[in-house]
Amino acid sequence: MATQEKPALGAKTAAEAGEYKIVDVPEAHKEVIDRYVRPGTFVGLSDMDSPWVPFGDNAAIRHLAFDVRNNSYCNILWIKSAGVIGTHKHRGMVWAIGLEGSFRYLEYDWVCHPGEFITEFPGHAHTLVTDDPDGMKALFWMQGANEFYDEEGNFLQTLDVWWFIEHYETYCRANNLPINPQLYL
Ligand SMILES: [Fe+2]
Repeated sequence: MATQEKPALGAKTAAEAGEYKIVDVPEAHKEVIDRYVRPGTFVGLSDMDSPWVPFGDNAAIRHLAFDVRNNSYCNILWIKSAGVIGTHKHRGMVWAIGLEGSFRYLEYDWVCHPGEFITEFPGHAHTLVTDDPDGMKALFWMQGANEFYDEEGNFLQTLDVWWFIEHYETYCRANNLPINPQLYL
């Protein structure tokens, strides 16, 4: 039977810790960490931080992170009114959380609303729809290739981290927006 790890006698648990101060934490390899660690990123709300880039006539993508080491990428998908994102198959994991409106997949029986969390696994193809007249917004963190198919099941295009970078940078160049280094992990 697994037992929960006990803190040292008299010490707080992780849940009880939390002074409002910067704490000096002992590091076995501080110099190496300081030399090679990468700080986290921050992407603000403005177009300069990351603009909405059109994806078809009724949708847009706001890119938030590109990780070329893991072919992984994070963005917000916005479908502006009731509509469909074409049938696609993932070759990696997907994590998502609803932000506005609602969406679902024709192949599944749930509907994702704001605050609700979903995962998608590599393998089966599915078709994202929103029946909400105001559409939907959701945060997606995706990994690997997204293969898109037409309504006859013919392969169309692969969207991977390279496609997402190209999508973002092409729009920035065309609209005189800076390329934000905070998006590149
Ligand atoms: Fe998907």
